[in-house]
Amino acid sequence: MTAQTPLTQLIQHICNTLDYLKASGCTGFDCSRQGLDSLARLGVAQPAPPPVGESLSDIRNDLGDCTRCPLSRGRTRIVFGEGAEHARLAFVGEGPGFEEDRSGRPFVGAAGALLDKIIIAMGLTRETVYIGNIVKCRPPGNRNPTPEEIATCLPFLKRQLAVIRPRVICALGSVAARSLLETKTPISRLRGRFHEVMGVAVMPTFHPAFLLRNPERKRDVWNDMQLVMKRLA
Ligand code: URA
Repeated sequence: MTAQTPLTQLIQHICNTLDYLKASGCTGFDCSRQGLDSLARLGVAQPAPPPVGESLSDIRNDLGDCTRCPLSRGRTRIVFGEGAEHARLAFVGEGPGFEEDRSGRPFVGAAGALLDKIIIAMGLTRETVYIGNIVKCRPPGNRNPTPEEIATCLPFLKRQLAVIRPRVICALGSVAARSLLETKTPISRLRGRFHEVMGVAVMPTFHPAFLLRNPERKRDVWNDMQLVMKRLA
């Protein structure tokens, strides 16, 4: 590996900072003197120090015993996500269900068993990929998370993805795909081709729970996974 010069380190630092701000929802800067002065007067002139070199466990610590949104009131456990810190493939689901809420682990129920089969069929294992969710606490009765709940939780997942830096993110189902891609386009129109988020290729596909109810769509998912495998090869 080539040694990093101070300049390349600085550029890396700036890239990490911009990635972090983007992942935290920042869409632009008001760098006018007036803008900076008014921020300074509010005491918020300094953005949070960029988490250069942060790890997944730093993010887990930062999340703590989260009560940032109402989902915390009904949960048993936070489902942070699990897998390889530098996985080449990350799966992102919607949010924990009953089994995940009990165990604190993602995709361990019936949908998880099907996801396991998909991962094995791709020649991979759960340990070599990363599995996370858009929200980390179970929505009551497995309802969809609200836009506010998603907006509160998603920055943590984006920070996790910024650490993992997978080559491909596979968004499982409509909530995951639409939240990551910031679109209202239906999953049936998003799937089957790569999109891009945070400079990473994103393949939306149907959620395993949907496949359990609609097994005839498994062929579509397998086609999507073949595209992912080609991209990883
Ligand atoms: N469904 C999801 O979207 N995520 C899980 O972790 C489990 C089921």
